Amino acid sequence: MTRRPTSTPWTPDSWRSRPAAQQPVWPDEGELKRVHAQLAGLPPLVFAGEARHLTRALGQAAEGRAFVLQAGDCAESFSEFSADAIRDKLKVILQMAVVLTYGSGVPVVKVGRIAGQFAKPRSSPTEQVGDQVIESFRGHMVNDDLPERSARVPDPNRLVAAYQQSVSTLNLLRAFTKGGFADLSQVHAWNQQFVASSAEGQQFEDIAEGIDRALRFMAACGINLTAEDSLHEVDFWTSHEALILDYEEALTRRDSLTEEWYDCSAHMLWVGERTRQLDGAHCEFLSGINNPIGSKIGPSATADDVIDLCERLNPQRVPGRLTLITRFGVDAIDRALPPLLRAVRDQGHPVVWVCDPMHGNTFTAEGGQKTRRFDDIIGELKGFFRAHQSEGTWPGGVHVELTGDDVTECLGGVEDIVEGQLHQRYTTTCDPRLNARQALDLAFGVAELLRS
Ligand code: TRP
Ligand code: MN
Repeated sequence: MTRRPTSTPWTPDSWRSRPAAQQPVWPDEGELKRVHAQLAGLPPLVFAGEARHLTRALGQAAEGRAFVLQAGDCAESFSEFSADAIRDKLKVILQMAVVLTYGSGVPVVKVGRIAGQFAKPRSSPTEQVGDQVIESFRGHMVNDDLPERSARVPDPNRLVAAYQQSVSTLNLLRAFTKGGFADLSQVHAWNQQFVASSAEGQQFEDIAEGIDRALRFMAACGINLTAEDSLHEVDFWTSHEALILDYEEALTRRDSLTEEWYDCSAHMLWVGERTRQLDGAHCEFLSGINNPIGSKIGPSATADDVIDLCERLNPQRVPGRLTLITRFGVDAIDRALPPLLRAVRDQGHPVVWVCDPMHGNTFTAEGGQKTRRFDDIIGELKGFFRAHQSEGTWPGGVHVELTGDDVTECLGGVEDIVEGQLHQRYTTTCDPRLNARQALDLAFGVAELLRS
């Protein structure tokens, strides 16, 4: 592994001297430069102090005193952008968070894959459509998903549109989470509705009833459930994959208080399985920003790879600085995860272990849609908890792709969606997401795993 010579310090653009995977080829360099300058002059989306706050919260998760819920779209969309969609997504995440808080008995750190999650890495740069070969769709931050050659031409003005959509999304999230929508009693009432109308309601009734009793107990002790700020406000953080480095660099600013660099496009940024090369541009970029950061880890990663990644991204061993998001698939998790847990533990690296049970369980259905089985997703989560139990490490959280809409993209769940139904409401621009009921089903399942 090559180390950076000490003579070349990190700068927001030092990634440019490294190989950068998955970057679009922008047709007009001049236009890109103009957009870059424009973005660099726009206000940051988040404040450095917030990112530090999140690092501390994640540090608790690294030490077994908090649990992380990271959730949202696979890819946000320019076309499906509405206040209702944001509200419904937040609503599911909050409902899940209540259940997980009860199940784990520790604070749940709520992190959205939202307000910036607009870019997708692709396994192939091109795609066959009829008799034409066209550029792959790379997320609305880069090009359009219409299967036409002209739609797929990367347009840097989309970086500005993504910024603007992120601004208004984050503005609404801040309003909802601090303005009363996140009220604990209200969120619990939504969960009770879900339990009452769910086929597996009986199974989850215990948990819902337990939360109810806890709330009544607090009220009986004299705690005013409506006056207490902490019961109707939540901290909600944003995150996305730091993929398009032109965008991330333009939003990277020096904090006026500490003089340190922060990528102010989101509170937390992660690097994907396809872009986490130690000497690559993405690790170089993430290594120098002071936000909490993450890396996806797939089945090909060896224990040495993971240790090298920890050294590269968190040499100071700051708890909460680095989250490892594992995505092995239900068949590989029992074999692949334990050696990594042992190696990281033995090296004394403080990481937050988060399970992404989605990306290792994707396959193509008969009808051509990408999908995932709910049972495989739960199966991988069970393997994750089993591995941590046997290694004596803390299962720090879960990372899922979901939507508040009633889509038919993943198979199974309470309503038992079957392959023939996938086409009914299949609206994702990228990977299949859990619908609201499947997401709640998952949260109750994880709460049981946490309790046992
Ligand atoms: N503020 C607390 C927290 O964030 C409790 C809380 C209030 C809460 N509303 C919530 C928890 C909604 C989960 C969901 O944990
Ligand atoms: Mn995805």
